[in-house]
Amino acid sequence: MEELSEVFSPGEISAAVKRLGAEISRDYAGRGILALCVLNGSFIFFSDLIREVTPPVEVDFLKVRSYSSTESSGVVRVECWPNADIKGKDVLIVEDIVDTGLTLNVIIKRLMAENPSTLKVCALLDKRSGRKAEINPDYTGFLVGDHFFAGYGLDLDGRHRNLQGVFRVRPPG
Ligand code: IMP
Ligand code: MG
Repeated sequence: MEELSEVFSPGEISAAVKRLGAEISRDYAGRGILALCVLNGSFIFFSDLIREVTPPVEVDFLKVRSYSSTESSGVVRVECWPNADIKGKDVLIVEDIVDTGLTLNVIIKRLMAENPSTLKVCALLDKRSGRKAEINPDYTGFLVGDHFFAGYGLDLDGRHRNLQGVFRVRPPG
């Protein structure tokens, strides 16, 4: 089995989520937010984050899948797209982790075509060294190194999403 070592405890994550919620609440004061959860990985972060936000929040969900097996190819298939009207809304994309940025790049292009009033990104983890597209989250929980992470919604082949902390995954051996 792969080896997991905790890098962010539930307490550290909770503090980061509170900080992000406070920043977002301040920036969007007096406005409503359409918060978009990028499934599947963001579902836990998303549900914690929106409860730390004080302006009115409308929620919707989108799901995309990368074609490539191990590395993000940027060729993404949209499997589920928000029903909500994007036009004229203050839209906040909530993502678990940004690596190459290719997935978000596609999502942002598609959303921009629907003419939101504003469009921002909040990511729990930013693997900045992996970047291939020019994507910079407006709100970031933690900068992380070029490793693989699981827990708090993030998965390794569908596993470990239920872990309360974020763990670095090392292959067996
Ligand atoms: P990107 O297109 O390379 O930025 O990858 C974005 C998606 O790949 C994220 O939304 C995650 O679903 C997945 N991903 C990237 N790095 C990790 C990781 O370390 N653990 C789990 N999923 C990851
Ligand atoms: Mg994701």
